[in-house]
Amino acid sequence: MTIRPVQWKKGEVVLIDQRVLPGKEIYNSYRTVESVARAIETMVVRGAPAIGVTAALGVRLVVEKNKATSAAPLRKALLKAIERLGATRPTAVNLFWALERMRKVAADESLDTPAKLKRAIAAEADAVFQDELDASRALSDFGSQLIGKGARVLTHCNAGALATAGDYGTALGVVKAAHLEGKAITVYADETRPFLQGARLTAWELCKENIPSFLITDSMAGHLMSRGEIDVIVVGADRVAANGDTANKIGTYTLSVLARENKIPFYVAAPLSTIDLATKTGKDIPIEERHEREVTHAGGRRVAPEGMAVRNPAFDVTPAKYVSAIITEVGIARPPFKKSLAELKRVVG
Ligand code: MRU
Repeated sequence: MTIRPVQWKKGEVVLIDQRVLPGKEIYNSYRTVESVARAIETMVVRGAPAIGVTAALGVRLVVEKNKATSAAPLRKALLKAIERLGATRPTAVNLFWALERMRKVAADESLDTPAKLKRAIAAEADAVFQDELDASRALSDFGSQLIGKGARVLTHCNAGALATAGDYGTALGVVKAAHLEGKAITVYADETRPFLQGARLTAWELCKENIPSFLITDSMAGHLMSRGEIDVIVVGADRVAANGDTANKIGTYTLSVLARENKIPFYVAAPLSTIDLATKTGKDIPIEERHEREVTHAGGRRVAPEGMAVRNPAFDVTPAKYVSAIITEVGIARPPFKKSLAELKRVVG
């Protein structure tokens, strides 16, 4: 089953609108950097690797339309686009990883004509896309080794094809690989309040892939763990600090503490583009606070009284001490993560 949330088609960025799934499968086309930036901000596209890939393709839009006759103005337009796209969402480091790759090309003075610059930017955007697609496939196969026959797997948010360049995903990629290997697993998908990525998106992917699964509310997870009904937890990540502290969708930290209490392995599945050695610990990871409407409303209807104050941090940080292993496309990192993550990053240079 091929799910491609982000595509480049005929000079445009095409995104499946994740805000209206699973009710409607709508693909929107974007022709401007600003519209791509708004699509990221408003969650048309979400999930760390998918955001990075979309931003790279957003930068590619600049060279598609630009009529510059020398390299300098084109370079300037590219850097402006990179700045705008970098201001969309602060937590997922894949965004900055992808934009840094684009910035390096944009700043390369040896690309001294518009034609050279255009070719190089298009090639780099394609490479970012392909690298993320390959990484999710490879890490899914590594991660599947950690899933036993008949395992009951809990996951949170959506870390599937929709959250990446497509096809597999990260945490849900591990689940899909285990399922395809015939391990007879059952998935428990947290609904993931307030944006319901679990109920809407993970459930949609699980149904499409025919993977036996149950949808649960976030608050049911602890109960099921305490009754011995969960064997393993696999989640994605938005940024993993050098020491293994992991930012992921709000509620992940709670699961990790419950997993430790109930002696359940807790795995993080993430491509190397999510591992940020420049961020020392989880304390240094910026946590996005989103609009209060996501909390006060459900299904477009107000559920909280007018005037009620709201907090809406979109991510939390799971301390490295609660993480059993981090699954990447080049192998599985075990504690102490400071050493194992640095070694895995060295593999790709
Ligand atoms: O706010 P979102 O939906 O972008 O948050 C997504 C997550 O937290 C995912 O778990 C994470 O990006 C990993 S995606 C492979």
